[in-house]
Order: sequence, then C-alpha cells, then structure tokens
Amino acid sequence: MPAQKIDGQELSKAIRAEVAAGVAAHVAAGGRPPGLAAVLVGDNPASEVYVRSKRKACEDAGMNSWLHRLPATASEEDLLKLVADLNADPAVHGILVQLPLPKQIREEAIINAISPAKDVDAFHPQNVGLLAAGHPRYLPCTPFGVQQMLARSGIPTIGKNVVVIGRSNIVGKPMALILMQKPTKDFPEAGDATVTVVHRGTKDLPAVCRTADILIAAVGVAKFVTADFVKPGAAVIDVGINSVDGKLVGDVDAESVSPVAGWLSPVPKGVGPMTITMLLQNTLKSAVAAK
Ligand code: GUN
Repeated sequence: MPAQKIDGQELSKAIRAEVAAGVAAHVAAGGRPPGLAAVLVGDNPASEVYVRSKRKACEDAGMNSWLHRLPATASEEDLLKLVADLNADPAVHGILVQLPLPKQIREEAIINAISPAKDVDAFHPQNVGLLAAGHPRYLPCTPFGVQQMLARSGIPTIGKNVVVIGRSNIVGKPMALILMQKPTKDFPEAGDATVTVVHRGTKDLPAVCRTADILIAAVGVAKFVTADFVKPGAAVIDVGINSVDGKLVGDVDAESVSPVAGWLSPVPKGVGPMTITMLLQNTLKSAVAAK
C-alpha cells in the first residue's frame, strides 16, 4: 500500500483560516492589523516567487504587507538603514529579509540588526537562544510547519526516533531543537522525541536513517532519500526544494519511498505552504504582543 499523503496545502488552509480569525479578533479588539514587511535585494527568481506567495498569504489573512526592493548592488549600509526604519515603524510587526543576500552584504550583520520582537523568521541569535533554552518567542517557520504537519496528522513524536538529515540554521538545527525538547506550558510544540541529526560526514547514513520512526529530509540534494533509507511504516517529511530542469523536486525519491513509508509529505504541496502559514502565525503573534 502506498504511503498516506500528508497534504501541506490542505493543512495550511485550515491553519490560515485560524490565523485569519485571530487577525479579525485582534482588530475587533482595537489592535492594529498585523503587518509584515518583506525585503527583497536583487532579482533572484526563486526569492521573487517566495516573497510573492508570502505577501499574498498575508493579504488573504487580513494582514498588511509591504515589499521593499533594493537593487542587487545595494550596500550593507543601505540594507541596515532600511531594517532600522522598519524596526522603528509601529505598523510593522514582522520583518522578513529574504535570503540569500548578495555577496557584499553579510547575512549575519543583517539578521543581528532586526529587532528580535519583529524577527518572525526566528533567525536572530536571541530567538535562536530562546528556542535552545526551551522558551521560544517564535518557532522558525519551516521546522514549525513540519511540527504542525506531524501533530495535525496524528503522528506522535513522544518517545519516537526522529532522524533529521541536514544541520542548517534554517531547518535541520532548529528542527532537532523543537522535536527533542520537553513540552512545557511555554513550549507545547516540543516533541519529546529521541533526535539524531545526520549530515554528509555521517557513517552509513542510510542505516542510521532506517532507525527513524520519523525521517525529515533537509539536505538540498534532489531525490537523495530512497527506499533503503526508510524503515517500513515510517513517516517521511520532505523539506527539499531543488530545481531540476526547471521543475521543483524534493530531497525524497517519492516513487522509491512511497511503497515503504507509512506517511509521506510530498514536494510540492507539502512543507512549502506550511512554511508560509507559520510565518503568518508568527506575525499575528508579534502583533498581539505589540497590542
Ligand atoms: N530563504 C529561504 N528560506 C527562507 C526563509 O524561511 N526566510 C527567509 N527570510 N529567507 C529564506
């Protein structure tokens, strides 16, 4: 029997409706409409697509959204000035500087300059530290989306073996932090799982992956995960976004994995829409905290 599909698009619809209701209630109670400022430097076509989707989702949820464009030749100082203006603007509750940035701009310098309260990506070291300490302000959008996919599909994480392939700051590392920690009142999303993080230096990587009840692929290599990585019945979450001959391809070879896995979150229509959905949730949370 093929794996049961975890439909990120359908789950997103439900969560976006909850967010829209939250926005309406916040505004009805006299709050400012939540506002997300997106910043796009240069003309990376993939970034254009992501930012367009993020803005449309905001507007559909009743939020304000602004797009600030800087040329590919912009200096670090230009971008720092824009970030400072957005930090000071009370209508802006979330600031999203789309990565990657051109070479002359240090990403770290920009991330450090965003007000942690408006850092809805949760990339600022203060927010990374709060998550690592078990008191997150925001959960980073992609791993938050994966956690929600598992929770809302009724796939328990408590006591399960989770293997995360990839150790990036955006996905792998925070994914492990969320799923390994103990749930508390402040952090109900924590997974209480036994988490292993593997990467290109891991010995016998497929064998380690086969220990996983939940396998999360965030490697950035098209169709990297095949049936020999998967324990029968495991939940497999594909976080890959690779372009192959102009087509969006995940990190999981779905044709190979589907007959073995119990659950599979596909690409497209899996984690991608969930990432945007969790960005909306974080922006609403920021607006509510700002009153
Ligand atoms: N580039 C790729 N993913 C992301 C993301 O989640 N946020 C931002 N700001 N840039 C990205």
